[in-house]
Amino acid sequence: MLFVQLIQANLTTRRLGREITYYPFTDSTNADLWELLADGEAVPGQVVVTDHQKAGRGRQGRTWFSAPDLSLPFSVLIQPQLPAERLGLLSLAAGVAVVDALAGVQVAAKLKWPNDIVVGPDKLGGILAEGRTIKGQQMVVLGMGLNVNEQPADFPKELQAVSSARIIAGGTPVQRELLLAGVLNRLEHLVEAGLDDVAGLWQERCAHLDAEVRFHGASGPVQGRFLGIDASGRGTIDVDGQVITFSAGDLDWSPA
Ligand code: BTN
Repeated sequence: MLFVQLIQANLTTRRLGREITYYPFTDSTNADLWELLADGEAVPGQVVVTDHQKAGRGRQGRTWFSAPDLSLPFSVLIQPQLPAERLGLLSLAAGVAVVDALAGVQVAAKLKWPNDIVVGPDKLGGILAEGRTIKGQQMVVLGMGLNVNEQPADFPKELQAVSSARIIAGGTPVQRELLLAGVLNRLEHLVEAGLDDVAGLWQERCAHLDAEVRFHGASGPVQGRFLGIDASGRGTIDVDGQVITFSAGDLDWSPA
């Protein structure tokens, strides 16, 4: 079971995580946070966290699996003071915060565009950023799912081949409260700095900078060398000398 007091005892933040709603189980922490906000019961910086997320939402309409009591699914409400073209940087900042917080609990992870958390070729975590305008104010829910303490058998069969469980299995269990506090501490720092350094920090943690990648966008797959991200967080690929920029889609890459 997750202990809210232990999370908060490890915070250095002004806002993020100062209000935490814990549910023993729920469908989706992202959905919960939007609901709390609609009911006037959420403040900027508020976190919803659960031990058992039963219907997690993933990117591109996919679902997200979290093993009960072993994973860390949580969401944080941000009220960004940013121009629209910089909003995309928020989810990249979350990725940087997660990688740095994982390093703090001895898990060496990297980032795969747009914001998967990977250990080698395996996906350990994902980030789902949802934005809405409420009463004229832009709000963003950053949902993060970190599969940190699972064993392979804790995943459904179809996910066992792609999960990171085989890497984590046998390692020291991660104290999820410390990891969550670490993410919030780092994320607040990045947000308060206006996300100025985020593109550079993201690239330093990128698992496939300069590597051959295949990008699946709306107009079909393209293959090329991943050049990095631009100031707005869009990915760029060199395809036979032509630079292609993309803001949504999926990317395949195989570590050498
Ligand atoms: C992805 O598809 O890679 C993103 C997965 C994001 C999952 C997290 S778990 C906590 C939060 N609540 C949700 O319903 N989804 C996000």
